[in-house]
Amino acid sequence: MADQASATMKTLQVRSYGEPADVLHLEEVAIPSPKADRIRVRVHACALNPADWAVCKGFLAVPPPRGIGFDVSGAVDAIGEGVTGVNIGDLVFGVPDYRGYPTAGASEFAILAVWLPVPKGLDLVEAAALPMAVETATRSLDLLGLAAGQTIMINGGGTMTGFAAVQIALLRGAHVIASAGETFAGRLRDLGAKVTPYGDGMVERVRAIAGGAPDFALHTAQVTGALPDLIKIVDGDPRRVMSFADFDQDGLGVRTTGREKGLVPRYDVLGRYAQLAAEGRFTIPIARTFVLEDWREALDLSQNKRAHGKLVLLLDRAA
Ligand SMILES: NC(=O)c1ccc[n+]([C@@H]2O[C@H](COP(=O)([O-])OP(=O)(O)OC[C@H]3O[C@@H](n4cnc5c(N)ncnc54)[C@H](OP(=O)(O)O)[C@@H]3O)[C@@H](O)[C@H]2O)c1
Repeated sequence: MADQASATMKTLQVRSYGEPADVLHLEEVAIPSPKADRIRVRVHACALNPADWAVCKGFLAVPPPRGIGFDVSGAVDAIGEGVTGVNIGDLVFGVPDYRGYPTAGASEFAILAVWLPVPKGLDLVEAAALPMAVETATRSLDLLGLAAGQTIMINGGGTMTGFAAVQIALLRGAHVIASAGETFAGRLRDLGAKVTPYGDGMVERVRAIAGGAPDFALHTAQVTGALPDLIKIVDGDPRRVMSFADFDQDGLGVRTTGREKGLVPRYDVLGRYAQLAAEGRFTIPIARTFVLEDWREALDLSQNKRAHGKLVLLLDRAA
């Protein structure tokens, strides 16, 4: 349990919105208490995502102060009213209540809105890497309607959402062609994907590998300008292209997910993929771990699209 006598914690928080490097600071704040239907964890690991930098810029459209960190693992430390099935000390992973509290996962303590037990055999850092990548990949593949035997081109197999999407599509029995840089090309091939570099000539390369048009294309990389090529890859039909990374500012007609009203997050699948990860049948690669004080290094790598795996803060060095 948190020591109520000291009752403060370190957290990464913005007190006004702007460029992350300017507005994000390591603060000392009161340890939050869980409301009904929430639990508090002593955070062991918090994975960082491009979404964290969007939060710093005001993406959540709620007044600051606001915390960052959507992906967390740790030990249960306090339990809110109405919560059953979890005990103090249990190891869990999940998603903070980042709208309901002014701090989130990049904190010594976090209030979780979604949590699952860490399966036996799964490391706490690996567990923290799962939620956003698995949820986003599942949501987008299901919205596309990808089925066994179909072929999908995943643009950005080396992004962590893309790496998750490749594995999930393959586990469903789909054929996968992924664009990727050198970091994960070999691992993606070993998983069963056909891999080609992104960049010039990608349309022709992908269509040659597919022997025509794949059924679908999924855009996962934090770059603009790729959507017209993905439309060409699927024979000019923008409805066969899904993007959660570029929101089609040019009105091309591709499908997008992440900003729609009525979005249903796919947290229902997290337990299944955590179990697969514990069995060595699913993974989100960890690029580097950082102590909280070194968060600016992670920000720099992530913002420059050089993450090459998950960037994970370690909060509880003694755990
Ligand atoms: N809408 C939603 O619900 C939602 C949810 C989660 C994430 N997202 C968005 O999805 C995007 C990806 O997030 P993430 O966490 O998966 O990213 P990430 O892991 O941080 O992606 C970084 C990787 O992108 C790859 N990359 C760089 N330039 C590329 C290019 N031109 N084409 C393809 N890949 C390239 C690099 O891998 P290589 O080694 O292959 O070069 C790099 O390591 C972000 O824009 C994020 O905001 C949206």
